[in-house]
Amino acid sequence: MTVLVTGGAGYIGSHTCLELLNDGQDVLVLDNYSNSSAESLTRVKALSGKSLTFVRGDIRDRALLDTLFQQYRIDSVVHFAGLKAVGESTEQPLAYFDNNVAGSLTLLQAMQEAKVFRFVFSSSATVYGDPATVPILESFPLSVTNPYGRTKLMVEDMCRDLAASDARWQIALLRYFNPVGAHPSGTIGEQPNGIPNNLVPYITQVAIGQRAFLSVFGDDYDTADGTGVRDYLHVVDLAQGHLKALSKIQTQPGCVAYSLGTGQGYSVLDMITAFEKASGQKIPYQVAPRRPGDIACCYADPSFAAQELGWRTTKGLDEMMADSWRWQSQNPNGYGK
Ligand code: NAD
Ligand code: WQD
Repeated sequence: MTVLVTGGAGYIGSHTCLELLNDGQDVLVLDNYSNSSAESLTRVKALSGKSLTFVRGDIRDRALLDTLFQQYRIDSVVHFAGLKAVGESTEQPLAYFDNNVAGSLTLLQAMQEAKVFRFVFSSSATVYGDPATVPILESFPLSVTNPYGRTKLMVEDMCRDLAASDARWQIALLRYFNPVGAHPSGTIGEQPNGIPNNLVPYITQVAIGQRAFLSVFGDDYDTADGTGVRDYLHVVDLAQGHLKALSKIQTQPGCVAYSLGTGQGYSVLDMITAFEKASGQKIPYQVAPRRPGDIACCYADPSFAAQELGWRTTKGLDEMMADSWRWQSQNPNGYGK
């Protein structure tokens, strides 16, 4: 049987394809390469020594989806495809509703038609909004502060309604905290489009001289050193979480959400120090105003995922930083080298 991985050429998708292949599973990728290229999958093939099928196409193309479900013996879908830039989503909300919400709707409709009911969805800790307390439990109230977050919550709601309507659905909603790092080989990693929005890609671009300095967005938060605190997790750990979720839903009907994080929060200044230690590179930075929409502190309570999925992170901050640096320094222009 085959796992259909939408958005499998992207950052988290490519690492997950590698783990699936290493686990002996058959993988079919559907990606429109709007934020990636086939090169990541060529490297995944080389790393795994296994074959993998990839199709260039869009999740909003219902006819293509129907053909894929007819052609391949797909029994589950891991759904990464979508747009993910928070700032861009406030400027182009319709593009986000179209790709993320209409795209997921089309995919779920095609799955229902093909009687494929196993679905793992890339949700985000953004659905917890600005939590009243940390660590964050799955039972915390859900809210959103931007269109990107709304698309994630809308798809989560769609999945809950769907599972309630038909007991054949087996759905895992994976709420990622802050994925960073790269495969330890240094051959696959994150390729941000333009100026990075996220902290670690920005730091690594400063380290190779593509950016002059890092702006630290606010040092007056109510945290130990005043800078924002997040739960950063290694992308290989995150990728393995998808295999655990796929295994869990084999025997679990319904729709269940899991927070995937380490349970440990680090500040922006902690991240700079850790990167400097791992890479030997100095990161010049300047304190800048807070970034609109940012919250002070966000980290998971990962015990539900540990208990239910048997998943916990194994890689610490040093490995996240060493692997981010290996990827960036070996591929200064990402896959376009
Ligand atoms: P990414 O941009 O690297 O990967 C997404 C992939 O989907 C890309 O390869 C892109 O080309 C493809 N894609 C986009 N729209 C498509 C469409 N309509 N049809 C087919 N392919 C399409 O992003 P990522 O960081 O790997 O994130 C994967 C998923 O995880 C996304 O849904 C994202 O919202 C979610 N997520 C990411 C983070 C993060 O910090 N990276 C955190 C939480 C959740
Ligand atoms: C981390 C910390 C910034 C850049 C975002 C999305 C979230 C999820 C992951 C998809 C914050 C600070 C950052 C910089 C900085 N994505 N920072 N200078 O904001 O936690 O989460 O990505 O689902 O939905 O909102 O991650 O990496 O952007 O920021 O000081 O140049 O680093 O203020 O405290 P964030 P991030």
